[in-house]
Parts: sequence; structure tokens; C-alpha cells
Amino acid sequence: MLVAGARPNFMKLAPVVKSFSKFGLNSVVIHTGQHYDHQMSKVFFDELDIPKPDENLGVGSSSHAKQTAEIMISFEKICKKYHPWMVIVFGDVNSTIACALVARKLGILVSHVEAGLRSGDQEMPEEINRILTDHVSNYHFTTSAAATENLLKEGISSEKIFLVGNVMIDTLSQQMKNIKKSNIIKNLSLEKKGYDLLTLHRPSNVDNKEKFLQIISNFESPTFSKQIVFPAHPRTIKKARETGLLSKLKFAGIRAIDPLGYHDFLSLISNARSVWTDSGGIQEETSWLGVPCFTIRENTERPETIDFGTNILVSLEEGDSFEDIFRVHMERTEEKTQIEFWDGNSSKRITEIIIDIREKEDC
Ligand code: UD1
Repeated sequence: MLVAGARPNFMKLAPVVKSFSKFGLNSVVIHTGQHYDHQMSKVFFDELDIPKPDENLGVGSSSHAKQTAEIMISFEKICKKYHPWMVIVFGDVNSTIACALVARKLGILVSHVEAGLRSGDQEMPEEINRILTDHVSNYHFTTSAAATENLLKEGISSEKIFLVGNVMIDTLSQQMKNIKKSNIIKNLSLEKKGYDLLTLHRPSNVDNKEKFLQIISNFESPTFSKQIVFPAHPRTIKKARETGLLSKLKFAGIRAIDPLGYHDFLSLISNARSVWTDSGGIQEETSWLGVPCFTIRENTERPETIDFGTNILVSLEEGDSFEDIFRVHMERTEEKTQIEFWDGNSSKRITEIIIDIREKEDC
């Protein structure tokens, strides 16, 4: 049973479902409904050819406690209906911890894809979800040696950890042909490398008016005289409206648009001069694509993207000037190769390991 709930889960689940079907494994797909807008959910199922979920729990938005609890109550019923041999959860959203916890307590095996990531910042809801999910899971599939190391340090047995690489990169490499066909650059009247791309949704950046304003004001500089395109998460637009910052965005030359589908968004990343973000996945996608990424956060759970050289942290607390950091980071011109195991074959590795686990269990 594969479980997804929020936008960043869908591109991770897609290649695993495909690989299972190639290897003849039976799978059921459950959508918790944490994300429900067409542009936050269905568009990814359509574009990435993910089969229609067997069940949608329809939980929607609410406080963390209510959302997590509602997912747990509904998911318990699903487990009792389908009796899965194994539940596979992805990433670090509320759906991930909710379903892992339910399954494990029912005695069902749990595997966590993208295990071991740590930002070291427990103010982040995702960090709490990561730690708890890893500690209730039976098997851990990691994206990097650093993630494996984090799990070992926390006492998780090396026999349960598998460094398989990044399933999101499987999707990205499989979809490059379609990404290249996107007309978004033309539709938004942009030029390749003639714009910067911005995404923001972390509560630490957008729920705090001063921080949000600090970010916007930093873009009011001749360095950013090119267009700044901003496909905005619904929570960000809601916050900007509530705090009266929508007009400030316009003043700073930031062009807010609706959330985009996978192909259009990845086309925008590929062709941007630079990407400014607080997302986790975008740090990885820009690394694979070789696009300079500026992560507006105090820490990252993806340190390999910094070591690799495409990504740099921008600290609001230390008052980093976006203009200065831009100048320094854009001058880096090292030849980029590839991060170990980010080669498009991670879902195949996961499938083979799961088949192996099953065979050993049957013996
Ligand atoms: C969630 C994940 C975050 C991930 C992000 C990607 C958790 C704790 N956080 O944050 O790790 O990076 O998804 O998008 O699980 N909303 C809509 N339509 C939707 C979904 C959300 O309008 O389809 C709005 C609602 O106002 C909602 C708010 O966004 O209250 C927040 O949604 P929620 O799922 O709680 O968290 P995200 O901020 O999306």
C-alpha cells in the first residue's frame, strides 16, 4: 500500500508505482486528501500518469492536530479493509507520520522513502514528522550517505537502511521530454535565463509578516530588475492577503501566479537564471538540473546540495543581503557531475529490495 497526501509526495510515489507494476507487484494507492485543489493534486496524477487512487480519505486542511488525527482515523479503516503486507510512506508531511504510526501499531510493516533527512531544526513541523516516521518504520530508503549516517547516529540498525538515491530524480529524468515540450515560457512572455523564480510556503517565512516583508524588500534592487516569477502556494497568497503584503509584492516586481503543474513548473526551473525558495524538493531538482538555487532558510536537511555547489543558504536572521549573496553564488562555475545514486534508478532499487524482503519473509 503506497500512501501520498500532499504535493511533494506525488512525484515521489509516481516512479515507485510504475516500477512495482513493471515487476508485477500488487499495489494499492491511497490519497489522504491533505492537498485537494486541482493544481495541488490532480494535475500531478494526470501529468505523471499515476493511477487514480484506490481510496481518497478527503481530509483537507485544518490544524496539525486535527489534520493528523483525521488521517489516522480514516487510514486505520483502510488498513482494516485492505490488510496490506506493507505500507510505504514518502517524505515528511503530516500524512506521512499519520499513516506510518497507524500501520505500525496494527502490526503492518512500514517502509519510509526519503528517510534520514534532518535539518536539526525542530521548529519545523516536517522535522518532527521525519524523526517520528523514521522511528516507527521498519525499513528506511535513503537518498544520500548523509541521511544514512543520521539514522545510524540515532541507533537505527544498518540492516534496515538502504541507500537507494532519490526517487524524485527518477520522475524528473523520466519527464524531461515532456518538460521540454511545455509552453510556459512563451505563455508567460518570458525569455530563457531572463527571469528569476521564487517559491515560498514555509510558516517560518510567510506566517511572520516581518520575515515575509524582509524577503520581499530584498528583491527591490537593480540586481533583480529582471522579472521575478512567483507561482504561489495557496497558504502564501492567503497570508499575503491577510497581512496586506500583496501590493508590496507588485512593488518589488514579483509576479505572483497560480500554482503550476509539474511540467510547466520544472520548465520554469530549468530555464530560470536563478531560483529562490524555501522548499525541500526544489533544492534537489535545481541540483540535478544545474540551476543556481538560493534557499531562504537557516538550515537544510539536504546538505548534499550545498556540497554539490548548486545550492546556498540565505539567512534572514543574519540579515544576508540577497544582492550580495547572488553576486557571490552566481560566480561559481564548477563543472557539475551528479550526486551519487541520483541516476533515475532509485525506484527500481526500492522494488528489488522489497521483493527481497518479501522472499526472506516467506522462507
Ligand atoms: C505541506 C507540508 C509541507 C510541504 C507542503 C508542500 C506538512 C506539515 N507540511 O504544507 O511539508 O512542503 O505541503 O505544498 O504536512 N491549501 C489549499 N489547497 C490545498 C492545500 C492547502 O488552499 O490543496 C491551503 C490551505 O489554506 C491550508 C494551507 O494551504 O490550510 C496549508 O496546507 P497544509 O496541507 O496544512 O500544509 P502546507 O503548507 O501545504
